[in-house]
Amino acid sequence: MYRTHTNGQLRTEHIGQEVTLAGWVQKTRDKGFMVWVDLRDRYGITQLIFDAQRTEKGMMEQAQKLGREFVIQISGTVIERESKNPNIPTGDIEILVSKVTILNASLTPPFTIEDKTDGGEDLRMKYRYLDIRRNPVRENLIFRHKVSMAVRNYLSAEGFVDVETPYLIKSTPEGARDFVVPSRMNQGQFYALPQSPQTFKQLLMVGGLDKYFQIVKCFRDEDLRADRQPEFTQIDCEMAFIEQEDILTMFEGLTRHLLKEINGVEVGAFPRMQYDDAMRLYGNDKPDIRFGMKFGELNDIVKHKEFKVFNTAELVVGISVPGANSFTRKEIDKLIDWVKRPQVGALGMVYCRCNDDGSFKSSVDKFYDQEDFAKWAEATGASPGDLICVLSGETNKVRAQLSALRMELAERLGLRNASVFAPLWVVDFPLLELDEETGNYHAMHHPFTSPKPGQLELLDTHPADVKANAYDLVLNGNEIGGGSIRIHDKQTQAIMLRHLGFSEQEAKAQFGFLMDAFEYGAPPHGGIAFGLDRLVAILGGQETIRDFIAFPKNNSGRDVMIDAPAPLDQAQLTELNLKVDIQA
Ligand code: AMO
Repeated sequence: MYRTHTNGQLRTEHIGQEVTLAGWVQKTRDKGFMVWVDLRDRYGITQLIFDAQRTEKGMMEQAQKLGREFVIQISGTVIERESKNPNIPTGDIEILVSKVTILNASLTPPFTIEDKTDGGEDLRMKYRYLDIRRNPVRENLIFRHKVSMAVRNYLSAEGFVDVETPYLIKSTPEGARDFVVPSRMNQGQFYALPQSPQTFKQLLMVGGLDKYFQIVKCFRDEDLRADRQPEFTQIDCEMAFIEQEDILTMFEGLTRHLLKEINGVEVGAFPRMQYDDAMRLYGNDKPDIRFGMKFGELNDIVKHKEFKVFNTAELVVGISVPGANSFTRKEIDKLIDWVKRPQVGALGMVYCRCNDDGSFKSSVDKFYDQEDFAKWAEATGASPGDLICVLSGETNKVRAQLSALRMELAERLGLRNASVFAPLWVVDFPLLELDEETGNYHAMHHPFTSPKPGQLELLDTHPADVKANAYDLVLNGNEIGGGSIRIHDKQTQAIMLRHLGFSEQEAKAQFGFLMDAFEYGAPPHGGIAFGLDRLVAILGGQETIRDFIAFPKNNSGRDVMIDAPAPLDQAQLTELNLKVDIQA
């Protein structure tokens, strides 16, 4: 037996017992006549003591050989500590060691295996297995396990069947580029890795499975951010014989269960917000509603004066920042610089101070009077002591810019409290989205999403106005899930694909299998997929999903530990009939 106990287990009631422990040497303190060693495993730390007076000859020398991260097994007696450590559960006892076996030596680790390490991100990723020995990383992985078990148990109890779908497939468009895999047996042909199991879960509904779920890897070749990885995990779900309301109820239930089970937080019915309102009031389809600062549109009350910037703008819109009249001129100037950064892209920012005496002081006093500013305050909900920040320009751009400013200010003012959970459904998304570069429309969710009843006809005349049976679940300003009611008949799917620019032939080549299946009794169906990495990170009070993934990729999509991606050798390229210009 390698160990009788773990390193987190022993207490005063074990005093006097002979025990065997195993683990890693966290640190040693050598006083010459006594050596203390902190022995660590997943469960905790136990202090070992080697004592020249109480231990056999030779033990002290062995103790002095132990280096950081050596893997050892020890036997000894549990004794009471002289100076107790109230900070750890095993702090009242220590082990008087009578036998030590070095199971494996270790090089000195490149960073300290402590909660606060001296290792930078790159180094920790290169030696991720050492990073995982650190409490915060290990705890995040165990936390993720808890969330995914709670999800499995909940969905299984609700009658969902866990079905695995293939990874070597044909492109499923979810709006990103595909990762592709060359086929040796079918030269010149490629599989695509799934961006999601979308078409397969729909086929499972045609297959009559009725309720499906899968915790599944998805692959998307897109630009990476804190909340995006090229391979990530979805809680993917689909149901048949349901309407949108059934899906929202079921998955609101799941989310509420998780918040209670994992965070001990009870939340009421999730608010629902129309996509158009989310854009108008928050400039964003994933609004963080833990705090206010709702947008106030000012077009009607600013265009009557000689201020050209506002008069020529498509949208003039402001937010009232609570208590921010206390910002100094310098601080406001810095904020203006912040919105002008290329990442935000505003041309400038107009502001208006709301003084405690009810008067206003603005950067555009030249053009507007106190009566005007009172209207601004009313439109943005500003009170004395607040600061109104106003941006103007093209509607979509200015909304995105003000949304970025709102989030930044909320962060600075400490309004994004990680222990407060504010979920909401965003509903009634547009079916199509205009690609500004190509001038073509593409599906906002994916091509299998159904339009709202009776709106199919609008596709020809007012494509941008067609609303979809699509919904997103938003938690604390993050899109944690999205789904839709699907098209389940061939004709509608064909019309949809035609509007997305597919010729009849292309549609048949790419999605013929699905449309054929629709001809064999496809039931009405719909579903949703949660981003598990995002969900776990947010429930864990954070927003960087990398911290909750055992072996994540860096911002260039590389795994720096195994050094992937990597070139193939010539023999493999030849076998796959691939030609690579090595110079490129
Ligand atoms: P969607 O594309 O909205 O829907 O994806 C569902 C959820 O997956 C998460 N997500 C990601 N997480 C980490 N890294 C990424 N690169 C990434 N991309 C997406 C988000 C998102 O809400 N098949 C549909 C679902 C359906 O219609 O049922 C789909 O994949 O949290």
